[in-house]
Amino acid sequence: MDLFDKISAKQGPLKDYAASSEGYYMFPKLEGEIGPRMTFQGKEVICWSVNNYLGIGNIPEVRANDTEVTKKWGLAYPMGSRMMSGHTSSHEELQSQLADFVGKEAAFLLNFGYQGILSIVQSLVDRHDVIVYDYESHACIVDGVNLHIGKKFTYKHNDIESLKKNLERAKRITDETGGGILVISEGVFGMRGDQGKLKEIVSLKKTYGFRLLVDDAHGFGVLGEKGQGAGFHQGIQDDIDVYFATFAKSFASIGAFVASTKDIILHLQYTMRSQIFAKSLPMPFVESALFRLNLIKTNPKFKEQLWKITNALQQGIKDVGFDIGNTNSCVTPVYIKGSIEDARIIVKELRDNHGIFTSMVVYPVIPKGMILLRLIPTAAHSMKEVEETLNAFKELKVFISELQAQSKLTETV
Ligand SMILES: Cc1ncc(COP(=O)(O)O)c(C=O)c1O
Repeated sequence: MDLFDKISAKQGPLKDYAASSEGYYMFPKLEGEIGPRMTFQGKEVICWSVNNYLGIGNIPEVRANDTEVTKKWGLAYPMGSRMMSGHTSSHEELQSQLADFVGKEAAFLLNFGYQGILSIVQSLVDRHDVIVYDYESHACIVDGVNLHIGKKFTYKHNDIESLKKNLERAKRITDETGGGILVISEGVFGMRGDQGKLKEIVSLKKTYGFRLLVDDAHGFGVLGEKGQGAGFHQGIQDDIDVYFATFAKSFASIGAFVASTKDIILHLQYTMRSQIFAKSLPMPFVESALFRLNLIKTNPKFKEQLWKITNALQQGIKDVGFDIGNTNSCVTPVYIKGSIEDARIIVKELRDNHGIFTSMVVYPVIPKGMILLRLIPTAAHSMKEVEETLNAFKELKVFISELQAQSKLTETV
């Protein structure tokens, strides 16, 4: 069969909806400045859909610094991978400041978080080792694990008994191969918003002797006294052996970093294929990350405002009668039972009739029959925007009940 004919015939769960969804449900264009109010299809919407947690993406001092460093360096410098020709003192300076901030001996910058995690996982293990990782891990972790040629086991999401069972299995194998065990969790799970049970996970280290890698994309900048992440928040940062975070969320930029002991960072630096064989982070992103880091270290107001908005939004949505699951971070999921078709009706109602823009998550990202409206509060939102949104959710509740009565919706919460 011709390869392209086969591709055209087989659409897959999301592509089936491409023709009727593109531009509205999928690949929507949010226009205007990144912020709490943006433009969608020519109309202003309150935007709960961008991970600009600390709200700093567009504040005047950040914009001024972004412009200044771009003017100074352009986007080209440095060229090549870090190992060949893409290394600078600014990269080193940022690494050293990040390591210090997250309480680790050393850090290494990554050109993208996704590719970075992929290579971190691949570099940490060989065929004798076993990986045990959370079933609901982000795609970049899953893809990294898939590069591992040795054994790998998932444990049920945030389920410590299931983790123990799988550690037993892993240990039986490594006792034979002479390898080690790598456990991987997220600091904050980006869809459900629940923190990884890091404290409970590290308490198993004595028994099973594993090393722990934490992807803290959604905890960095948001949790911990100064925003140092989920490990600080849970008081176990020292027990995280390899810590990862991205600049694509609370820093509202691009790039990422990994932090660990000097030895491990040296190993990663010389083995991470996505970094050795790809261009280094350009200077404007490095220097703007230095600026952002300094800004959040010295300005607790961003994190305080973020949590004020988060608490008001989460409490309000619960009070209206929606289920937000067990989030204990800023990620705010609203769970509704229904089909993909139902999700489209609900999201359209929110966007067109209430001017509220949320992300919509459906199967295969979450189980069939569930709809997840994912709201990301930021420090840039105001209480007025929370209030307007809660009013919209009140009306949405009535809307869903009416649809349900006419049985246009499958069973809804
Ligand atoms: C948990 C998690 N890890 C890693 C990444 C990838 O980060 P980046 O956008 O820097 O590639 C994301 C982004 O969606 C994420 O949510």
